[in-house]
Amino acid sequence: MFKNPSLVFTIFGSTGDLTYRKLLPALYHLKHRGRLNEDYVIRCIGRKDYTKDEYVQIIEPWIKKQSRFTFNQDTFNEFIKQIEYIKMEFTNKDAYTTLLDYPIGLDNLYYFAVAPEYFNTIADGLDHVNYLDDFKHRVILEKPFGDSLIHAKMVNENLTKLFNQENIYHIDHYLGKEMIQNILAIRFGNRMFESVWNSDDIEQIQITASETVGVETRGSYYEQAGATKDMMQNHLMQIMSYVLMERPETLSSKDMLDKQIMVLNEIELDDLVLGQYDKNEDVLAYRDETNVDAKSMIDTYVAVKVHLREGQLKNVPIYLRTGKRLKNRATYIKIIFKSSASKLYENLHQEVITIKVQPDEGVSLSFNAKKPGTINTITDVKMDFCQSCILENRINTPEAYERLLDDAFGHDDTLFTPWPIVEMSWKFGESIRKFVNSGKRSLVLYPAKTLGPIEADSMLQKDGFVWLDEDELSY
Ligand code: BG6
Repeated sequence: MFKNPSLVFTIFGSTGDLTYRKLLPALYHLKHRGRLNEDYVIRCIGRKDYTKDEYVQIIEPWIKKQSRFTFNQDTFNEFIKQIEYIKMEFTNKDAYTTLLDYPIGLDNLYYFAVAPEYFNTIADGLDHVNYLDDFKHRVILEKPFGDSLIHAKMVNENLTKLFNQENIYHIDHYLGKEMIQNILAIRFGNRMFESVWNSDDIEQIQITASETVGVETRGSYYEQAGATKDMMQNHLMQIMSYVLMERPETLSSKDMLDKQIMVLNEIELDDLVLGQYDKNEDVLAYRDETNVDAKSMIDTYVAVKVHLREGQLKNVPIYLRTGKRLKNRATYIKIIFKSSASKLYENLHQEVITIKVQPDEGVSLSFNAKKPGTINTITDVKMDFCQSCILENRINTPEAYERLLDDAFGHDDTLFTPWPIVEMSWKFGESIRKFVNSGKRSLVLYPAKTLGPIEADSMLQKDGFVWLDEDELSY
């Protein structure tokens, strides 16, 4: 008889980029920190015909490269004892009998690191061989959680029948980022911030997630997703809901959900700009990337202007932008205040709270002070709290996937996206598509390595604003 492991973590799509780059390094980190129980099994399912030794040879350099600790061979040798590699054609229902030859876990967690069109295929395959009948079964889904709102609903209905809603975890790795979690602590742990988080005091909010990377090896995926589905309707929407939500009663998933839903219900799209990167210097145009249509009209950049119809931040303009192949890699939030009502001073500068998510993590405040040696001349000064500058913080900060997998192993779903939010994010994504289809805006090209399309600047200029770039930390 088999001895049932306490947990079997099965990855479908284990020869893909996500598994190599994020999931296995995250699991290795958990091993390093003693968070991966010895009887956990990591079952890697792939279509490629590898032996376990061959698979281990492939993953070792990835883990070395991605490791946030100095790579330790002994830890790695212990880690791989927990790994199994199973070659399986997961689109063939009968192939799932292969799994019956391996011990099932008392708790079974599946990670669908595959395109959304396969979510139901895999779930139905597991069901076909009655694999889901006994013990506990949960599933983690990678975004996008479907191809469209209708498809996402269909997938969710089918998965709910097989797993129950509470056992379906939608992963949005931005929720595992330290500074995204910190948004709530900064807002609701400080009266000085909470008391000014309203439309009387705040002039506008800007959220930026800019990347220097292109689509790399993911051309076929990206051709379906674009920046809207890849980043805007999930990562940026999540950040936005944390920035805009009113104070929840408690930090429980339920109370948080209520407040996030309030935000997403009241959000209205005012304008948008879609862009696609074009050739610049040594960087290829998106249309010249592998597995990309030479006439592709997919967006690699999206900027939107939205506002809330109701609530404390009613009618405050909120600008969000994200794009690939931009000049800098930086994710940050700017809360920009209205000018002081006082008429005592002239030439006041903007008062801004900046929350830096990555690569630097921290918070900075820009405000007005008197220039030393003058009578009443105002200068802008800055206070910086650099969280990631402190070595101890860097060492203790788990990567997003590491934190989220650890939570999922421990049945804590707080940092996973509940279905109602997924559904509302899809609705927002659809409103973007409707806006585009209405012909009000069409896709524009922007040269790679720049700040994005100038149309995104004009969108703010119409309101008398400019995008604020992330300022360097002063350390
Ligand atoms: C992923 C997107 O969800 O997030 C990628 O699919 C993107 O296209 C990535 O590059 C960005 O994540 P991070 O953690 O590097 O900001």
